[in-house]
Amino acid sequence: MQILTTAAGLHAYTEHARGAGQRIGLVPTMGALHDGHLQLVQAARTDCDVVVVSLFVNPTQFNNAEDFRLYPRVPEADAALLEPAGCTALFVPSVEEMYPQPAVLRFDFGDLERVMEGAHRPGHFNGVATVVSKLFHMARPHRAYFGQKDWQQVAVIRQLVADLSFDLEIVTCPTIREADGLAMSSRNRRLDAPARAAAPLLHQVLQAAAAQVRQGVPPAQVRASAEAALAQEPLLTPEYVEVADAQTLQPLADYAAGRAVVLCLAAHLGGVRLIDNVVVE
Ligand code: PAJ
Repeated sequence: MQILTTAAGLHAYTEHARGAGQRIGLVPTMGALHDGHLQLVQAARTDCDVVVVSLFVNPTQFNNAEDFRLYPRVPEADAALLEPAGCTALFVPSVEEMYPQPAVLRFDFGDLERVMEGAHRPGHFNGVATVVSKLFHMARPHRAYFGQKDWQQVAVIRQLVADLSFDLEIVTCPTIREADGLAMSSRNRRLDAPARAAAPLLHQVLQAAAAQVRQGVPPAQVRASAEAALAQEPLLTPEYVEVADAQTLQPLADYAAGRAVVLCLAAHLGGVRLIDNVVVE
C-alpha cells in the first residue's frame, strides 16, 4: 500500500493506473476506521483494480469547533487496517494541502439540505461537497463508495455528481451495525459506558417506527411515538426524528404509493452526536 500526502502525488498515482487501463475506486473517509468503512474498501476492491482511501478530517464540514477538535484521530491504526482490506493507496493530506487557500465557492443543494443534517448543521454539506469535489478531481475515480449510514450525504453527493457532470459512478453500501444494532461510527469511541449502554435505543426506535410505517400508521403519529420512546432515556437529547421521502428527503404528511420512506434521527448522547436511519421500501 502506497502512502500519498500530496494532491500531485495522488493525481500521478491514479493517472498512471488510468493510463494502464485500470479501474480506480475511491473511498473518502475521515478515519478512525471501523467495519462500516472497511466494507466500502472491500466493495471497491471487488469492483476495481486500484483502491484509493482518503483519510482527512475535513475542517470545513464541521460547524462545531469542539466536535472537530474531539474527532478521533488514529492514523497508524487506520493504516494497519487498510492494507489487508484491499486498499492500494492511502491518501493522507494536510489541511494546507487540501486547502492551499480558503474556498470561496459555496454549494447550495436547495431543498435537499434544508432538512435534517443540512438544517441542523449549517454549512455542513457545503464542506462535504467542497472536499468530495476536490477528491474527485484529484483522483478521477471510476467509482466512489459511500455508506447508507449517511443517507442525506449520499443524496447530496449524487446531486453534486449530476449537476457538475463528474464522470463517475456512486456506489452506496449498507449500514454496518454492532451486534446490539448501534450503527458503527467513529464517534462511538467517545461514548462512555452508560452512554454506550443506552445507544442501541436509537436503532430500536427506528425499527419500531419502520414497523409502524409498514402498517400504514400516519407519519405524524410515527414521529410522535418515536420522540416519546427517545424521551424515556434521560441520557439522550433528541435533535430530530424525521419521516421523509427517501429520494427527495422532504418530510411526509402522507405516504405515496410506490415511494420509499426513510426514517432518520439525530440525538446527543453523553455529549456525542449520533445519527442513524432506516429505509422502508
Ligand atoms: P466518515 O464519517 O469517515 O465516513 C466515511 C464513509 O463511511 C461515508 O461514506 C459513511 O457513510 C461511511 N460509513 C460510516 N459509518 C458507516 C456504517 N456504520 N456503515 C456503512 N457505512 C458507513 O462521511 C464522511 O466521513 C465525510 O463526510 C466524507 C464523505 C469523507 C467527506 O469528508
